[in-house]
Amino acid sequence: MSQAFVGTDTSMTRIIAHRGYAGVAPENTVSSVHFAADRGADLVEVDTMPSADGRAVVFHDSRLDDQEGNRGVTDRTGVVWETPFAELVEAQVLDSGEHIPALSEVVRTLPDGVGLNIELKHCGAPTIITGRVLTSHERDERMAQWEPFVRTVLDVLDEFSGEVLFSSFAEGALAALRAQAPDAQLAPIVADRLDVAFELADRYEATAVHPSMDAFGVTLPEPVDPIPVQRAHDAGYAVNVWTIETWYQAAQLRGIGVDGLITEYPGLTTW
Ligand code: G3P
Ligand code: MG
Repeated sequence: MSQAFVGTDTSMTRIIAHRGYAGVAPENTVSSVHFAADRGADLVEVDTMPSADGRAVVFHDSRLDDQEGNRGVTDRTGVVWETPFAELVEAQVLDSGEHIPALSEVVRTLPDGVGLNIELKHCGAPTIITGRVLTSHERDERMAQWEPFVRTVLDVLDEFSGEVLFSSFAEGALAALRAQAPDAQLAPIVADRLDVAFELADRYEATAVHPSMDAFGVTLPEPVDPIPVQRAHDAGYAVNVWTIETWYQAAQLRGIGVDGLITEYPGLTTW
């Protein structure tokens, strides 16, 4: 095995704790956010979506239970955006004693010096479009669909003075954010379509692109392709990659110059 990546300087790589280091803490809870902050995360990534009565909550899956391909990470049932806020915040996450938090609770209790990467996961509409570039007609329609929830999220963040980087798989979310918050930091998320990430980044003057490791072919033991990172840097975007689970994946990505590692575990970058 090549040792080329071992010992690479990590000082410039930012660490983004995925759902609050979901590998070692109950994901997307206040405790996980604090855990991540205590363990040196630069930013904490949380997923957000609305309750039935329009409050922003921090949660990943569409449903509280294991129906329709969801994991069943709470002790309740139902679709998140069809459930009232008062019921959502009673739902326990992964038998941990932790509950689903309001976004406002996370923002209010986040320690100083730690930023947020807020992923706009869903706006509560019957269908959303993710993973591709929209036509101009679709864009207007989908932007309108996201506008109320984006307004809610921006209102929650009104009092927050720390760094916020918004991200989404949905162009409608990015469009609504850019329209309502001209100075916001945005990042399109893609699974493997770097072309989509670059097009959306150009369109919405993004700060970063957030591709998954699949976009770089991160597999042992082959080195990964640095060209997309160079292209992003030439265009002025940072590259933050998800979701890192091993020190070697971290080393490979550091080796091609990525700017941020969105990771499940603390301490992966110290080898
Ligand atoms: O933001 C990167 C990552 O969180 C996107 O995927 O499904 O874990 O929210 P997911
Ligand atoms: Mg996420």
